[in-house]
Amino acid sequence: MIHAITREVSPAIGQCELTHIDPVAIDVELARSQHAEYRQLLTELGCEVIHLPAEPDLPDSVFVEDTAVVLDELAVLTRPGAESRRAEVTSIAEALAPYRSLAELTAPALLDGGDVLCVGKTIWIGLSSRTNRAGVEQFERLVAPHGYTVRSTKVHGVLHLKSAATAVSDDTLLVNRDWINEDFNDYQTIAVDPSEPFAANALRVGECVVFSATYPRTAERLDSAGIHNHSVASSELAKAEGALTCCSLIFNV
Ligand code: GLY
Repeated sequence: MIHAITREVSPAIGQCELTHIDPVAIDVELARSQHAEYRQLLTELGCEVIHLPAEPDLPDSVFVEDTAVVLDELAVLTRPGAESRRAEVTSIAEALAPYRSLAELTAPALLDGGDVLCVGKTIWIGLSSRTNRAGVEQFERLVAPHGYTVRSTKVHGVLHLKSAATAVSDDTLLVNRDWINEDFNDYQTIAVDPSEPFAANALRVGECVVFSATYPRTAERLDSAGIHNHSVASSELAKAEGALTCCSLIFNV
């Protein structure tokens, strides 16, 4: 069965970290309502959703993806690049403990889960403002014994690798090449529509793809490539520099 860990939007989300976008007022109730739609869609797609309560003192804590990388064999608790986000990891560790053995990154490693793109047994890690080489090296030491190959690539102009590339099938990536140097030659690629630069973040749930209603032109490109996608509103959390993958930790049990 597929499990999804999510967390309620913090009432403090207006104080979230912003790196590459300008502040815009966030409607917390609308963000919560869109997040509820997202959870409902995950349920309809077959997930058992484990929804954690809001963390009033942790503005970015809805973006649970950054706190852990959950593989079949273990979960790696991250050391988020933004100091304000490190306390988010504790409750995620508690939520994951029944399902996986836990490993953790330690200083000087920095790594956000949003920089970790798993494609089968290859794990791409973005070197970004949140993830450093020590993070990549520690992560690799933890996962290599389980047969994973770790490859790193620089990310520029956007927060995370998964803002620039996500998997929409076992061998196909949705990409915005303006933010990454990697060609991803081992995969088929679909480029985002040029008018929708933030559209590269799609969420795979089993064989299904969840995609933001904000990006209809890129959704058409996915449809044309035979990648049917389930649309969900995500405009409000985008103002907090978050996207669809950021809002859940998806894993099989
Ligand atoms: N606001 C999302 C992040 O900066 O982590």
